[in-house]
Amino acid sequence: MNPAIPQRVLIATQNSGKVREFRRLLEHIPAQFVGLEELPHVDAPSEDGATFLDNARLKARYYSEHFDSAALADDSGLVVDALDGAPGVHSARYGGDGLSDEDRTNLLLSTMSDVPQENRTARFVCAVVVCRPSMGEEFLHALGTVEGRIAFEKRGVNGFGYDPVFVPDGERRTTAEMDSEEKDQLSHRGNAIRAIAPALERLLLGE
Ligand code: IMP
Repeated sequence: MNPAIPQRVLIATQNSGKVREFRRLLEHIPAQFVGLEELPHVDAPSEDGATFLDNARLKARYYSEHFDSAALADDSGLVVDALDGAPGVHSARYGGDGLSDEDRTNLLLSTMSDVPQENRTARFVCAVVVCRPSMGEEFLHALGTVEGRIAFEKRGVNGFGYDPVFVPDGERRTTAEMDSEEKDQLSHRGNAIRAIAPALERLLLGE
């Protein structure tokens, strides 16, 4: 493997909010990161895994085989203790098909309207997986989390998904009230990428 030639790694997600975050978080890694939007369309695989890691692996393997390239995928979501872990792996589909991020956030707030402050604990979880065809059944993976609680109302316009209602521990602001660098410093996706980065760099250098 010639380290002078930057290797191509797909950022295997259709979610533009995640693509923006991955591009920032991976900036320092010497590879050519390509989003799915730059490639011919392919239908997304069905995410029927039981865990975040299962789903991330399924997506990374699917896109890596389809495009014959290294691929990095994540699966992430919001785990709310008062809802027995929901929406969890179903975060993107909470409330059913056809809802917007804002609809899902409103649904979460109304479902939790009677839950007192002390029971509103929650965490964002992110599993990141890197596969490439030559790795066969092997893959790199890391898990990142950020602990916090669900606010009583939406605040902020940054980020995406449930950011307007998630307040990380030690903060008064939601992640939608933070700028992108602040969110990256503490986010589940930031933590997962920081954990996988050394192994990804070694893989790309062919060590
Ligand atoms: P998936 O990983 O594409 O299955 O979807 C994860 C879903 O979890 C997203 O559609 C969001 O609703 C939610 N989610 C994951 N990460 C974040 C985040 O950083 N902020 C807000 N919502 C998130």
